[in-house]
Amino acid sequence: MKENKKMEKAKAENFDWPNLGFNYYDLPYSFHAEYKDGKWDEGKLTSDSTIKMSEAANVLHYGQEAFEGLKAYRRKDGGLNLFRPDMNAKRLHNSAERLLMAPFPEDRFVEAVKMVVKANQNFVPPYGSGATLYIRPFIIGTGEVIGVHPADKFQFHILVTPVGPYYKGGMKPTEYVTSPYDRAAHGGTGQSKVSGNYAASLLPGSLAHKNGYSDVVYLDPRLHENIEELGGANFFGITKDGKFKTPKSPSILPSITKKSLLQIADSFGMEPEETTISIYDLDQFSEAGAMGTAAVISPVGSITHNGNKHVFYSETEVGPYTQKLYDRLSGIQDGDQKGPDGWQVDVPLK
Ligand SMILES: Cc1ncc(COP(=O)(O)O)c(C=O)c1O
Repeated sequence: MKENKKMEKAKAENFDWPNLGFNYYDLPYSFHAEYKDGKWDEGKLTSDSTIKMSEAANVLHYGQEAFEGLKAYRRKDGGLNLFRPDMNAKRLHNSAERLLMAPFPEDRFVEAVKMVVKANQNFVPPYGSGATLYIRPFIIGTGEVIGVHPADKFQFHILVTPVGPYYKGGMKPTEYVTSPYDRAAHGGTGQSKVSGNYAASLLPGSLAHKNGYSDVVYLDPRLHENIEELGGANFFGITKDGKFKTPKSPSILPSITKKSLLQIADSFGMEPEETTISIYDLDQFSEAGAMGTAAVISPVGSITHNGNKHVFYSETEVGPYTQKLYDRLSGIQDGDQKGPDGWQVDVPLK
């Protein structure tokens, strides 16, 4: 059984790096740690990419699961960069606390990410291919429950898989549509990266795709009037006088890409602001975009709301501010440009 499993593992020489999609491949190593009797064990690399747990594990019934998403980028000199992994460590800590799970220590999180990336280094796509190694750390409640209670045992895993761009077509604008559904409640778990939010987003996402849109625009869950975020990314708009605006709301995911772009926009003199953005006030923007680890920066060509389609800069071309923000952000992530202190974290390969 073990031998067969090993044979199914991906081989680096079989990848067509420039044509990768956003799919899972079973790579040689994952990271695995366990929490019981009030503490996390040492954790270790493992070649077993399956998880064994009780049928009564909390995660299977009451959804104790929190996760992260970050990438390893191949630099021109062949080395590898992570982008602000300490922020992912912190957000996972916050998400775990929201679901009453034992947080994995933040400093050990970054070390574990480095360890699993180094072990799978042959699977980090080459510089210039547009592809990266996606890193998915997650915590699950494995303690047995039958009533609605938090687990007392947890597992922390990190899987990695090589990915191409999330939105096919890269820097081409795509079409979005507002949804009558909410992904998270006001006062709910929108700020946390927890699986329940994504389960709730599957139906609205699939309806949008069926109707030819690339993703959903969620509106605020109370008034259904203000933009919250996109299916898997935060939203930004560039005003006609070149200012960067992004929604402020308690029910959106605090995106690390967004935090970084607020700082980059400030360095460009774009007077960034987190503020309320009404779906009825899109005329103020000359450009709009999606921002996130997977999306990087992707131009939003149009938003359709109640059957009315609003086109931003162009349905076919990326606008100049969006391009400028993308060039700076991806320049830092790929290691071609020096970023602010702490943004580029080297993964030692020796
Ligand atoms: C719902 C949602 N919003 C925003 C983001 C962007 O967050 P980040 O920039 O930290 O990747 C993500 C994840 O990538 C997401 O799933």
